[in-house]
Amino acid sequence: MAHINLTSIIKNRYLITTIVLIIIFDLLYTIFSDPPRSNEQLPPGTVQSGLIIRKRPDGIIDTGRVMKHCDMKSNLVENCLEYLDKKEDEYIVNPPSPIPQCNEDEPPMLFHVFWRGMITDKLALQMKSFLYTQPLECSKLYVWLQNSDTDIDLNPFAGNLYNKFSPKNIEFKKWDTKEQLDSDPLYNGWEGIMSRHGSVSFSDLVRFVVLNRYGGMYMDGDVLFLRDMRPLYNSGIDFSYKWSYKSEYNTAVLRLHANGTTSRKIISQAMLNKMNFHPFEIKNYLLANTSVSSDSANTKSVYNPQLYMYSVPLFDPLWLKNDHRQNNNLSPNLNGMDDVWDPNFIPNEFPNVGNLSNYSPLDLRKADNFFRGAYAYHWHNNWSRKLFPTCWMGVMNTAYDTFINGTRPNIYGEYIQSS
Ligand SMILES: *[C@@H]1O[C@H](CO)[C@@H](O)[C@H](O)[C@H]1NC(C)=O
Ligand SMILES: *[C@@H]1O[C@H](CO)[C@@H](O)[C@H](O)[C@H]1NC(C)=O
Ligand SMILES: *[C@@H]1O[C@H](CO)[C@@H](O)[C@H](O)[C@H]1NC(C)=O
Ligand SMILES: *[C@@H]1O[C@H](CO)[C@@H](O)[C@H](O)[C@H]1NC(C)=O
Ligand SMILES: *[C@@H]1O[C@H](CO)[C@@H](O)[C@H](O)[C@H]1NC(C)=O
Repeated sequence: MAHINLTSIIKNRYLITTIVLIIIFDLLYTIFSDPPRSNEQLPPGTVQSGLIIRKRPDGIIDTGRVMKHCDMKSNLVENCLEYLDKKEDEYIVNPPSPIPQCNEDEPPMLFHVFWRGMITDKLALQMKSFLYTQPLECSKLYVWLQNSDTDIDLNPFAGNLYNKFSPKNIEFKKWDTKEQLDSDPLYNGWEGIMSRHGSVSFSDLVRFVVLNRYGGMYMDGDVLFLRDMRPLYNSGIDFSYKWSYKSEYNTAVLRLHANGTTSRKIISQAMLNKMNFHPFEIKNYLLANTSVSSDSANTKSVYNPQLYMYSVPLFDPLWLKNDHRQNNNLSPNLNGMDDVWDPNFIPNEFPNVGNLSNYSPLDLRKADNFFRGAYAYHWHNNWSRKLFPTCWMGVMNTAYDTFINGTRPNIYGEYIQSS
């Protein structure tokens, strides 16, 4: 049990006075400052409801420095997240060659998601997390739809997003297997393979097809964007991340360059293997035609330069704890994938708060305090869970909605342009 020595804190009157003054100043500022005009931006470092406004990054990620703190063989998830949250000055570095400017003259940062069926509140949640975090002057999300809404503007969850952000930031696109696979001789013979093997997994396939054709970054529909992706996106490398503690890829997050060596190699190998794009096959494809076999010790040095396998915390901060591989103390201190849907507190969710029954979840659950440092949060399926307003996902949803309707800034202190 943590024991806080209250007496020693109270004795430190200077600290108390300073804290009280900061709180008073913050309150006065909130009460007397004008409501922000649209498009106004709070300066980085501002404390907004107790949380620190982040500055937009202006460089690329130094993978070596990040992995020194984030390799799970020698670090804990919480140490990795703390490094990612606090040490941007150290790991965001100047790019060796110029990266795209964020304006309409340069190609946008392009994201993709594939969805089968009607658009639900969960897919809308992901789309909103994209709007809340990415720089909207230079970001676009392609939503690839199969057997989905014919009138997206009438969809209860996506209608407003369609009217407000399509086509500038979100493009809803109909997935057409034939048109896509006929577009590149790489897929020659696909019709025969598909008719012989009815089990080809579409969602595993689509991400490679669209990334090879258009380039960009694929995010599964159950992955929330938490931070500006540009430092990763513009780093010049193709990447994905690790499947929990296994040495396999999880392609729920996948960055590939259009028609690149890596994407062509994976696709051509998959074509030789019944169009099997299952994540556990990808490593074998990258090792094909090399002298290294998949069970030898130095496979990493062969697959990483082709498709960098980031560690789990960057995109999936709860996974190792969920799988009982690390006994993490996280913020929020959840235990398993189900917990983000729970409208009530999880025991010990806020280890620094003595008695949770003196609070209600909305007092303590704040969107900007959700796994700070991580670039994404992968919630792993759970498509049919109810989005209670007081569960963590509900808290995120409300933050997104109030940002989109112009009444609250995002984590970068920006207010959305009112239209
Ligand atoms: C992709 O690259 C290959 C060789 O690297 C080239 O032959 C092919 O024409 C390219 N395809 C497209 C669609 O640019
Ligand atoms: C790579 O290996 C496969 C067999 O795994 C073979 O069919 C293919 O022709 C090889 N490709 C190259 C470029 O050597
Ligand atoms: C926590 O607070 C509640 C309500 O204030 C009280 O009933 C309960 O006894 C407290 N529990 C502990 C462990 O202090
Ligand atoms: C939620 O996801 C977790 C992890 O995949 C799974 O164990 C659990 O059964 C799911 N719960 C529901 C209600 O879908
Ligand atoms: C903005 O959205 C929030 C959350 O849904 C809602 O509570 C609030 O009333 C909305 N405000 C306006 C001005 O539409």
